[in-house]
Amino acid sequence: MRIDIITALPGLLESPLNQSIIKRAKEKKAVEIYIHNLRDYATNKYKGIDDYAFGGDAGMVMMIEPIDKAISALKAERPYDEIIYTSPDGIKYNQKEANKLATFHNIIILCGHYKGIDQRVRDHLITKEISIGDYVLSGGELAASIIVDSVVRLIPGVISDETSALTDSFQDNLLAPPVYTRPAEYKGWKVPEVLLSGNFKKIDAWKEQQSIERTKNLRPDLLDE
Ligand code: ADE
Repeated sequence: MRIDIITALPGLLESPLNQSIIKRAKEKKAVEIYIHNLRDYATNKYKGIDDYAFGGDAGMVMMIEPIDKAISALKAERPYDEIIYTSPDGIKYNQKEANKLATFHNIIILCGHYKGIDQRVRDHLITKEISIGDYVLSGGELAASIIVDSVVRLIPGVISDETSALTDSFQDNLLAPPVYTRPAEYKGWKVPEVLLSGNFKKIDAWKEQQSIERTKNLRPDLLDE
């Protein structure tokens, strides 16, 4: 899979997309991630990428031309399955959406700036708007990092334990059961007996029951979906 991210703040993305699982996925060539600095596509002599809003509103608006140039340059090289804009008014991101994105070959993510992007970009260049939740970030870069992280770990072969991503919370609309490691007892706090029993049938039944209990208690809304 190939992910192209267009941003005015590349520094905000470089570290989160160069650690742990994402770093390993890139090394294994399971994913290619390219960060494009929007400023490289600026057309005026000041290298500006934003300008005053028509109609006299306060605040600067990201201009359409550099964005169109950046997206067109990428589209000239290969077809894209989705051109995503990160914005608080997009569809609410969830595991189902992550699963869908993970099946794609090429996606573009344009990092937004709340209130600050020429509407014609959204009307004519973007195929999907995604929000990571009902709160406002200063820009879409952290949202893009979250989307990329959740997608990359789903690409086959990225997580060494094959079943690991599939047993995540949310994959079957259930929260994951609790997990424990050594020591079996700490300050008198004990690991549930069944997990030490070696009886895998019993252990699996316990895990499933824990998943259902936790979901009922913590996220009953998931059971309605
Ligand atoms: N940009 C600003 N706020 C955002 C949010 N909640 N989700 C995605 N992009 C954003």
